[in-house]
Amino acid sequence: MHYALNVYGADINPLAVLISRVRTARKVEFAIGAIGASVVKRARADRRFGIETTLANRDKWFRLEVLTELSKLRRAIRSCEELWARRFLWVTLAETVRLTSNDRTSTYKLHARPKHEIDGRNVSPIDVFSDLVSRNADSFAFFRKKLRDANAVSHARYRASTDIALVDNRESKKCWADVAPFDLMMTSPPYGDNQTTVTYGQHSYLPLNWIDLADIDPKVDTELLRTTQEIDRRSLGGRDPVSNEEEERLFAASTTLKNFAEALPDTPSDGHIRLVRFYRDFQASLEAMIGQMRQNSYMIWTVGNRNIAGKQVPTDTVLSELMEHAKCSTVTMLTRRIHHKRMPDRNASSATMREEKILLLRKR
Ligand SMILES: C[S@@+](CC[C@H](N)C(=O)[O-])C[C@H]1O[C@@H](n2cnc3c(N)ncnc32)[C@H](O)[C@@H]1O
Repeated sequence: MHYALNVYGADINPLAVLISRVRTARKVEFAIGAIGASVVKRARADRRFGIETTLANRDKWFRLEVLTELSKLRRAIRSCEELWARRFLWVTLAETVRLTSNDRTSTYKLHARPKHEIDGRNVSPIDVFSDLVSRNADSFAFFRKKLRDANAVSHARYRASTDIALVDNRESKKCWADVAPFDLMMTSPPYGDNQTTVTYGQHSYLPLNWIDLADIDPKVDTELLRTTQEIDRRSLGGRDPVSNEEEERLFAASTTLKNFAEALPDTPSDGHIRLVRFYRDFQASLEAMIGQMRQNSYMIWTVGNRNIAGKQVPTDTVLSELMEHAKCSTVTMLTRRIHHKRMPDRNASSATMREEKILLLRKR
């Protein structure tokens, strides 16, 4: 956006789509800070005690006072007329939910705090929201100023096109038929094996239970909130067994993956299945994406090499081989140190994710 380019994005997770739609909106409400302050005022004046979430097990995840205040905030947000403003406020509410629920903030997985800690906590969602909404408004104003300085905004609108799709990348071809082929792609796949690395779906589960899903997209399937695992299950590597033909096709494209899979120890017994299931989906998604790229266009992939059964999966090399097989060339590979990312430190499967690899590829 800083170069006033047309930008298009996609994710399977409605929370990721919501955040991206707020960020990439062409026209935004400049008075969002004041709107945020009036939402806080309305929530403080609300004397009702109705609880505004249908979340199963809500008493496990929230204290009663927290449920009550989050409900006041939700009622106040719903009374805002403009969709972009509501989306901005939902993003702020999502972070408020994360900070005020009984879930531990130290990991991505849903994991309740111990009872004594819950009982001893004294958090007010309205106070947290009030602080966050003014910080978010400032940060957003700064971003729009940068866009204006870069001449990317004209008549208060971002100059070029923007669109974010809620879609499974493996099936994204239809949604970009009007705008593809693309000239540049930047992406970062999940680490592989949602349950033991970064559980994007679980991490979004509590916030999504407080947000009007229709405000994100009319197409959001409410079944995504059927269980805490459902979004991760539908994401890359989440479900569907791998057939022998699929495994052969995958290994034919990446010898490194084949050798790695064959050298895996017998424990954990599902290590092989989890590895192959992720890469089968990964291959399907990258092929679908390459199909929408222009010849000679560039692709920038950021990947983390995770561990499985104590051995590091060479995701960077596997990606490079899968891409070469799909008629792309590896231009260069860079290493980036991760400084501030929250990582499940005690989790052996991600102990090596202190570094990320960035691959620059070109479609032949
Ligand atoms: C490492 S994060 C990357 C986030 C951000 N899009 C980026 O590129 O920096 C991986 C993202 O992949 C998404 N994802 C997983 N499976 C997907 C699928 N089948 N289709 C689209 N997105 C998927 C997850 O929801 C998660 O947001």
